[in-house]
Amino acid sequence: MKITVLPGDGVGPEVTREAVRVLIDVGAIFGIAIETEEHLIGGAAIKAAGTPLPDETLRACDDSDAVFLGAVGSPEFDDLLPEQRPEIGLLGLRRALGGFANLRPAKAIPALIDSSPLRPEIFIGTDLLIVRELLGGLYFGEPRGFDPDSAEAFNTMRYGIDEIDRVARVAFELAKGRKGKVTSVDKANVLETSRLWRTTVSEIAKDYPSVELEHFLVDSCAMHLVTNPSQFDVILTENLFGDILSDEAAVLTGSLGMLPSATIGGKVDLYEPVHGSAPGIAGQNVANPLGAIASVAMLFRHTGKSESAAKAVEDGITKVLEEGYRTVDIAGENCHKLVSTLEMGSLAARYAVDSANFSYAYHAV
Ligand code: IPM
Ligand code: MN
Repeated sequence: MKITVLPGDGVGPEVTREAVRVLIDVGAIFGIAIETEEHLIGGAAIKAAGTPLPDETLRACDDSDAVFLGAVGSPEFDDLLPEQRPEIGLLGLRRALGGFANLRPAKAIPALIDSSPLRPEIFIGTDLLIVRELLGGLYFGEPRGFDPDSAEAFNTMRYGIDEIDRVARVAFELAKGRKGKVTSVDKANVLETSRLWRTTVSEIAKDYPSVELEHFLVDSCAMHLVTNPSQFDVILTENLFGDILSDEAAVLTGSLGMLPSATIGGKVDLYEPVHGSAPGIAGQNVANPLGAIASVAMLFRHTGKSESAAKAVEDGITKVLEEGYRTVDIAGENCHKLVSTLEMGSLAARYAVDSANFSYAYHAV
């Protein structure tokens, strides 16, 4: 597999280095040769090339089997207009690659029971998947801008039936392989886009009789996520609601640093941890690389079509946590094995390789 690696800003390069290590080590065991090529994006690209998404980066991404991204964004650029900021590099990349379904799984991890501020009885058993529409809504709707004459800023929420249709089908397909339930989240009591969302999703549900569909309003869903999260299986929602709800769902796993994501449906799949560039801890070798490493598992699963390689990576993560190793974000109160980004990465790689070797040997026999 030819993978374009975009480390980006802040902790991006640190977590990406560990993820790539796991990718290469585990790939080797399953006979998946990995070729990686690094390119610039975000603030790093603005500094080196004057633009957050250089053409060279786009060309490389276009010509690869998948793109792996660390994080973008930096407070240095806080005063810039939205169209000049590092984030525009990521949004432009998402649009160019065409992936419209952003998968963000959140699973409660028994070993991390002490890391969540929530009471364990609330979140134990949680295993949900947010399917976030990634190319529409307020993020991309036109017109947008600032009108100096009226001193008004404006963004446009716009959704077409086809955009809703295609992402809804991804959610229903994935639900078939899980607990068989889709919760569609909208604000249909207020927004026209949400009314269209709701009727379109209900229509599509008829093609998936084995999947149960329910509708939630986004405010109510936000509350249910932290009061009774185990009721959810697949949560299907539009771009901005999905952005917000996925950060909230991170609390269920112990830390935002744990959450992976995959963006599928376009020309080239894109993998990135859900967390941002975390400038406050960048360059200190303390960031949690497990969200990035779990994104490698998703890469093996969706692009590499290797469920065994994906499982090996996930087993590696489980094992490292069961052994008690913790980065600061998940350390809790009684942690005796506080490790750095690099140590966590090499431990996860070693356990993933052990698990991969075991599963490879098992299948070979
Ligand atoms: C995310 C991030 C991005 C988003 C930003 C960095 C543009 O918050 O991937 O969730 O809002 O989609
Ligand atoms: Mn976000």
